[in-house]
Amino acid sequence: MKIAVVYWSGTGNTKAMAESMLDGAKAAGAETDLYSVDQFSADQMAGYDGFLFGCSAMGCEVLEEAEFEPFFQEA
Ligand SMILES: Cc1cc2nc3c(=O)[nH]c(=O)nc-3n(C[C@H](O)[C@H](O)[C@H](O)COP(=O)(O)O)c2cc1C
Repeated sequence: MKIAVVYWSGTGNTKAMAESMLDGAKAAGAETDLYSVDQFSADQMAGYDGFLFGCSAMGCEVLEEAEFEPFFQEA
């Protein structure tokens, strides 16, 4: 099982959660990669079996709009 953890983080909280999720998936035997959303695009998804997406709430309970939201729509 190959898993990609893809996140957006402004002040590091979601990044810390993404790293913990990565450790958990690794401990469960998965092959894992960690990406901040600017390093990953939807056309890379074919190389993975599963995904963990993380983004902090920004604006008014919405996804970060410049990078994560467009990626998530495409994904
Ligand atoms: C501009 C801005 C808007 C925010 N809007 C929300 C919101 O709508 N709801 C919420 O629960 N938290 C909101 N927050 C709080 C962040 O989601 C929270 O601090 C989060 O832990 C940040 O995670 P990060 O360090 O990964 O960016 C906002 C923070 C900022 C800076």
